[in-house]
Amino acid sequence: MFLGVNIDHIAVLREARKINDPDPMDAVSLLKRAGANQITIHLREDRRHMNDKDAQKIIENSPLPVNMECSINPDIIDIVIKLNPHRVTLVPEKREEVTTEGGLDVAKYKNEIALIAKRLEYHHIELSLFIDPTTEGIRDTKEVGAQWVELHTGLYANIYAMLHTNMSKTHHCIKELDIDRTSLHVMLKKSLKELHESAKYANTLGLRVAAGHGLNYQNVKSIVDMSEIEELNIGQSIIARSIFTGFETAVKDMLELVR
Ligand code: PXP
Repeated sequence: MFLGVNIDHIAVLREARKINDPDPMDAVSLLKRAGANQITIHLREDRRHMNDKDAQKIIENSPLPVNMECSINPDIIDIVIKLNPHRVTLVPEKREEVTTEGGLDVAKYKNEIALIAKRLEYHHIELSLFIDPTTEGIRDTKEVGAQWVELHTGLYANIYAMLHTNMSKTHHCIKELDIDRTSLHVMLKKSLKELHESAKYANTLGLRVAAGHGLNYQNVKSIVDMSEIEELNIGQSIIARSIFTGFETAVKDMLELVR
């Protein structure tokens, strides 16, 4: 299984002070040295972390393929096509969200996404759609012309955290606050089954499968066990560990679990 490392949080730290330090570009050579397979960055409409200059520097200088997450906003798509990353992953974006909550509603934006798919194909840029693990979402992903689907593992990760830590926060899909442990175990099993069934279905349609969101050193194993998933994109947990262990070690620790 391949590992893409999302380095947005390096830019988050820089933006906390609005200075030049730390520079996400400095992560690129360390990622290569650690053995990661891909760099993932998200150019948000509000530019809250990565900006256009970061993206340009990283794409032009990275020895690893760059997977660029963005919304379906036409202005952003124009910018991203000029930047020419290896792959574009379309994600839903809401200004008020802390991070990408929920997958892209492919059915709702089918025409727009199909048009983006054609433009990217013309420029030889791969397309991936970040979706919740549903049969309909996967079928639509295939129909609009994407080559990849990235399955949103956030629900699984949140249920896992509720079971194994004192986390009181809930995922947007979990409406009830007081859920007993037996129900959480059932929900965890169901979320894993949905991810696995979705990955298998995507494979039968000829889609390549990635997964990500909320994955960490504790919960990643069940996802790694799904042989239909080719790649994981992980950010928060790796950057968090790197504060204590150093970036290269944090990436290597995750690589050990992923492979
Ligand atoms: N994949 C996608 C499409 C994402 O939007 C994100 C979060 O930016 C990730 C993976 C990584 O999630 P996390 O930071 O929780 O590991």
